[in-house]
Amino acid sequence: MPKVTYRFEGREITTEVKPGTNLLDAAQACGAREGHACGGVCACSTCHVYVTKGFESLVEAEDDEQDILDKAFDVKWNSRLGCQAEVTDQDVEVVISEESLQAWYDENPVERKERDERLQAEGKAIPPPARDLRNT
Ligand code: FES
Repeated sequence: MPKVTYRFEGREITTEVKPGTNLLDAAQACGAREGHACGGVCACSTCHVYVTKGFESLVEAEDDEQDILDKAFDVKWNSRLGCQAEVTDQDVEVVISEESLQAWYDENPVERKERDERLQAEGKAIPPPARDLRNT
């Protein structure tokens, strides 16, 4: 089975998935912090990831995904929406975008509070909610 590796906040999580699994479902199954404000129906861009390995092996992006990606924060050539990008038979590596990570924290207030307190103690800025990062 192909493997998917997620990188975020200096962490790395790798999981095996069945071909046809999308990157968001795989992230949720392994505990990678990928946001999903619309529930995975291609309506929000909070599952935005950068594919650093295996981009060509993913199922091709359709027009709906491209339209939503146009509204995402910091889109790059290797951007995909995790809820739409299905793994085929090759390994894939992704970096979870700042927007997606922040959306995950927005959806998980306990972890967000812990992170914000840690950042504050370290004298670092607390990131804004994901909705403030989007291109509208
Ligand atoms: Fe909303 Fe993917 S979860 S577009």
